[in-house]
Amino acid sequence: MTALLDAAERLGRDELEALQLERLRGTLRHAYDNVGFYRAAFDKAGLRPEDCRTLADLARFPFTVKADLRDNYPFGMFAVPEERVRRIHASSGTTGRPTVVGYTERDLDTWADVVARSIRAAGGRPGHKVHVAYGYGLFTGGLGAHYGAERLGCTVIPASGGMTARQVQLIQDFRPEIIMITPSYMLTLLDEFERQGVDARTTSLKVGIFGAEPWTEQMRREIEERFAIDAVDIYGLSEVMGPGVAQECVETKDGLHIWEDHFYPEVVDPFTGEVLPDGEEGELVFTSLTKEAMPVIRYRTRDLTRLLPGTARAFRRMEKVTGRSDDMVILRGVNLFPTQIEEIVLRTPGVAPHFQLRLTREGRLDALTVRAEARAGATTDERAAAARSIAAAVKDGVGVTVGVEIVDPEVLERSVGKIKRIIDLRDAT
Ligand code: DLL
Repeated sequence: MTALLDAAERLGRDELEALQLERLRGTLRHAYDNVGFYRAAFDKAGLRPEDCRTLADLARFPFTVKADLRDNYPFGMFAVPEERVRRIHASSGTTGRPTVVGYTERDLDTWADVVARSIRAAGGRPGHKVHVAYGYGLFTGGLGAHYGAERLGCTVIPASGGMTARQVQLIQDFRPEIIMITPSYMLTLLDEFERQGVDARTTSLKVGIFGAEPWTEQMRREIEERFAIDAVDIYGLSEVMGPGVAQECVETKDGLHIWEDHFYPEVVDPFTGEVLPDGEEGELVFTSLTKEAMPVIRYRTRDLTRLLPGTARAFRRMEKVTGRSDDMVILRGVNLFPTQIEEIVLRTPGVAPHFQLRLTREGRLDALTVRAEARAGATTDERAAAARSIAAAVKDGVGVTVGVEIVDPEVLERSVGKIKRIIDLRDAT
């Protein structure tokens, strides 16, 4: 296995930290010299790039948030002349301007390298066929996965998202070993396999590389059993690069190794911004170490997780993401994440792995209804038992009372990409 690793993956911790510091200092200098936003932010904090003498000194530097990117729309965060930018991606966001990101030739090269490394860590090898069902376009999923798979020496099937019946056909005809897709869309494919009367356990697929949205251990089990594959987690965000910032190794499936030679992680208290020691849960923050077109300094991801020591690689791991702080529902003072409900719904007999959370307002209080789909053939009694069991498990495990509605099979909208779990009807009620 070691023979397969690239040079950076074989660095010891000390060598890695020396490399990180050198690259960090270079990045701070590059950002300060070339991006007005960073120059102003550092000046305001009374800091110069050279004030960063150790990795811990980074904590003195100001954060960057999504609104900063929006305020500098479209190209104000770029640190190179526009003609050196080879590619632009953007994430739509629900309101307002999209968040725009840019890549130089070297950035695209780095990106392909980290995605190739990710696919290899997932068990992919040169010669494998990789079915990419992440959307192609401004979203980073499709093209990010694509060039990484090519870099590793795989054959890419650029299916993109949607046209589900055709995806299932292509998987049967082209016989890929690997699929890269959101976990929720994988469940949509499962429905389609069933509709076509094909046992999803009999396909050529060996590994699924799932990301772009939070998913739980229960979802891993469901997908692994229903498809007879290994399911591993890939993480990333456009502002930092795209997919391939961190990847779970197939041999350990114990959280995601952060490719720390390119992306420097911190976990901070989401309220105070104070850096937390490894092992404590908080908000993940990234500083890019090698990006040219759009360096990011202490970018607040809003993703909640914790940092753990390396296992299959020397790089630190991040635990599977619990959720985004934006997706946290506060119900009568209790914090609730969709992933907590996912764990419960997926272990409840009689219900399918499809659910939605409906937020409404009753008087002055917010109320939440879990809408879960009955498994085909579930009896009225089984459905009633499932509703009681979900409500009790949420009360016990999360500590809050929610309504539960078991809907008929195939009623809930299916995902073709990132799933939207929360339907907020509070202004409509
Ligand atoms: O979703 C990049 C990506 C594509 C990652 C394909 C993995 C696979 P954005 O659209 O900018 O980029 O959304 C980034 O998605 O901040 C997380 O909230 C969430 N996310 C991404 N991967 C995971 C994951 C892509 N493995 C945002 N687990 C991030 C949980 C994830 N959440």
